[in-house]
Parts: sequence; structure tokens; C-alpha cells
Amino acid sequence: MRRRQRSVPQIIEQVTIIDAGSEGMAIAKPEQKVVFVPFGAPGDIVDLKVVKRGKNFFEGEIFRFHSYSKQRVEPACSHFGICGGCKWQHLAYEHQLRYKQQIVKDNFDRIGKFSYPSILPILGSDQPYFYRNKLEYTFSPHRWLTEGKPSENISDDALKGLGFHLPKRFDRILDIEKCHLQHDLGNEIRLFVREQAIRHGYSFYHAKKQQGLLRNLILRNTHAGEWMLILVISTDDQQVRDQLLPQLIKRFPQLVSVFLVINPKLNTQISDLTHELVYGLPYLTETMPSPLIGQNDLHFRIGPKSFFQPNTKQAGKLYHTAFQWAALTAVETVYDLYCGIGTIANYLANMAAKVIGIEHIEEAVEAARENSRLNHIKNTEFIAGDMAEVFNWQLIERSGRPDIVITDPPRAGMHPKVISRLIELSPEKIIYISCNPATQARDIALLNEKYSVQEVQPVDMFPQTHHVENMALLSIR
Ligand SMILES: C[S@@+](CC[C@H](N)C(=O)[O-])C[C@H]1O[C@@H](n2cnc3c(N)ncnc32)[C@H](O)[C@@H]1O
Repeated sequence: MRRRQRSVPQIIEQVTIIDAGSEGMAIAKPEQKVVFVPFGAPGDIVDLKVVKRGKNFFEGEIFRFHSYSKQRVEPACSHFGICGGCKWQHLAYEHQLRYKQQIVKDNFDRIGKFSYPSILPILGSDQPYFYRNKLEYTFSPHRWLTEGKPSENISDDALKGLGFHLPKRFDRILDIEKCHLQHDLGNEIRLFVREQAIRHGYSFYHAKKQQGLLRNLILRNTHAGEWMLILVISTDDQQVRDQLLPQLIKRFPQLVSVFLVINPKLNTQISDLTHELVYGLPYLTETMPSPLIGQNDLHFRIGPKSFFQPNTKQAGKLYHTAFQWAALTAVETVYDLYCGIGTIANYLANMAAKVIGIEHIEEAVEAARENSRLNHIKNTEFIAGDMAEVFNWQLIERSGRPDIVITDPPRAGMHPKVISRLIELSPEKIIYISCNPATQARDIALLNEKYSVQEVQPVDMFPQTHHVENMALLSIR
């Protein structure tokens, strides 16, 4: 027997959107039922069509506006509403910041349930567009059609696309004309690659059929205007080497580093594959002012596989906050957990006795050591390995107990073993940086028996999206 549907109808009229939050969705609560609404803005009065019925919540699409929220602004991007990238472009920036602040508070209250002081006002960006230093695009022989024409009426070449995945669809690519996230030169390079690839008749990779040559294009850039291009293809190809890449290098003198990656695998993971340098330098060099007045700028070499904070200017604000909270006096042993290419370790090193960085990507650890050499820093040590394994007593006996720990784990947060080790070691302060306030709140709750939260500082690394970076200063009880 079919179960009867709950009493919420398919169409809900005259609904007021009341909030914005989780996963970038707006929220309405008609008849006490939570409905998540993509691209809604708090204050909108709308008619909703229910498109998904979960046990505790529904998902609805707006199909008619009765009135528009005052928080709305005109989105800058023509792909808004289809592309999964910047779901909050329709909200004025000041409101985006307000909701991000609230996301941190909600996670700390609902998941963390520990006490903490008033959250400091989020550090917003003075550059809410064109702020990213890295973007990755995907080729497709059959782009997502937005013109409403049947694909039979479109030529094969016009069907080819180079852009971003639709939300939650690995096989659907939206061709991008202009992206507002990275410097505009990135758009020029991508459009040129697409145009030349079509002109030369290269095939675009079909993710479902697993056929075709061109798979991904990754572009990285620095503030000084240097660019790295990484082209991922499914099989080695002489024409790409002799034709497409030389054309690109000639057309864009800003490209100082060009890599070719051959990925014959079914998945798109390339960190385990050889990145062959076909032109220029094997890295980009980014510059950041030293936190110490009167000292030279710091330089960081970024290789093709290295993690580097995607928003360099905002990362500078985040590192500076960590520097202020650490309040180093040149006698401390600092651990930088999940250190990437050692940016934070090197940023703080001049004010510490020594800094030990731990990171699992070998190339990043090598880059971290290189970054110390480049900046004439001699009191850092970098260790490669999985945090849960290498952050152990043997290492502590060799390198010393931490006075201060900076931890900046990936979205999943810290492994329980790492949290237990921190509790055993009991450093004076822990500075916890996170791109996921939910796992951060979970981890701080586990640390809470020994640590109290002294400061909470959200930082907006990703304007136009719902993502928020958050910092917490913990001190030993
Ligand atoms: C959010 S990034 C932080 C990077 C760095 N703190 C920075 O500001 O550039 C997280 C880093 O953790 C590393 N990582 C992820 N899982 C790890 C693990 N289990 N053990 C060690 N490092 C890991 C990633 O490779 C990445 O470099």
C-alpha cells in the first residue's frame, strides 16, 4: 500500500523567505515545515513548488515572486542560477557577511554547545569579485544547454563546453563565458583554449563514456600577475604538445609555468599523477607582507599540486590574526598542523624559537622547506605523513612539546587521535582555523574539557558563496 503524502501541498503560495544558511539555501517555514529554497533571499514573498520531500525538510523552487527582498542586488554573473559556484550573488555583500557570521554562531550553539565569547565581526573582503587565485575547469563534448534548443539543432562544435560542473552532477558541464571569481585574464585564457581546441578538432572528454582527449584545465595566478596553466589530457598527444601548448605560451606571456598531466584513470584525481613541466618554472611565487614591521616581504613558492589558500588577500588577514593571537616572544615551540606549503609556519617563524609543520603531501612538505630557504628561515622543521600517525610521542620527544599549536585541517576536521594527542600534550594555546564551522565546533567540544574558547573570528575567504572560514583561539583551563 502506498503511504499517504504529508499534508504540505505541491504548491505553497505567499511564502516569506525568513533566513539564509546551510549549503547556500534560503529557508522558509510555511505550516511549521522547513523548506530549503535555492536562490531565495530573506524577505522575498514567493510561491514555491515543492520538488523534494525529506523526512524533516522539503526543498522548494520559487516559481512566482509577489515581492522582492530589500537584501537583493543584481548578480554580476550571467551564469548565476545555473552554475553551482556563487549561490549568494543575489544578496548584498553586507548581508552575505551577516549570514556567515550567523552560520558560525549556529554551528557553535547547535553542535558545539560550549561557552564562547561574542564572535568578533567577520573580516570581510574589499574585493568581493575576482578574488580567487585558482580555478579548475572541465571539458565536455556535450555542454549543459541553457538556450532551450534541442541538441539535434546544434553543431557538434557548438555543443563543446569548458566550464564548471552543475551542482552535484559529475557529467554535466556548464560552458563558461565569463567567471567573476578569478582575474579576467583567466577568462581570456580559457576561451582561447576552448576556441583553439575546437579549431584543431581535439576531442573533449566524455565523463560517462570515458572517451575523448581534453579533460581539465587548471589556472593559478599570483598578485604580481604570473600565471600557471595545467592541462589534463587522457592520453599523450603530440599535437597538443606541438600545437596547442606553444600557441598558448606565445599568446599569453603571463604564463610563466605550464604543466601537462596525463590522466587515463576513470576518476579526475590528479595529485597522484606526474605533472610534467613543459614550459617555464615549476612553481609560482606569491608575496605576502611580513607581520613584523620593517622586515622583508615573505615569498612562497606554489607548485602545481600544492594547497595554497585560494584568496591570498584574505589569507593575509587570517595569518595576521593568528600572529596576533599567538603573541610569540621568540621562546616558544610552535606546531603548525596540516601546514600545506608551510605558509603559516614560515609566517610565524621569526617570532618563535622553532616551528614544526606536519602535512601529508610530500611535495607540499618539500615546498614548505623550500619556502623556509627562500625566506632565510632556519628554525622550521617539516614532517611528511598522515597527522593521526606522525603527530606522536616519538616526534614530540625529538622535536619538543608545543607551547602553541596552530591547526588548519581539511573540511572533515581533525582525526579523534589528533584531538586526544592535543589533550595529552596540553599546549598553552591552540589556534584552530577551519573552513567548516560544523566540524570545528565538533572538535572544540571534544577539546573543551581542557580548553576554553577565548576568541572567535570568522573570515570571508569566499565572497558570493555561503562558505565561511573561522578561527578560534583556545587557551588551557
Ligand atoms: C586547509 S589546508 C591548510 C593549509 C595551510 N595551513 C595553509 O594555510 O596554506 C589543509 C591541509 O591539510 C593537509 N591534510 C589533509 N589531510 C591530512 C592528514 N590526514 N594528515 C596531514 N595533512 C593532511 C592537506 O594536504 C592540506 O594541505
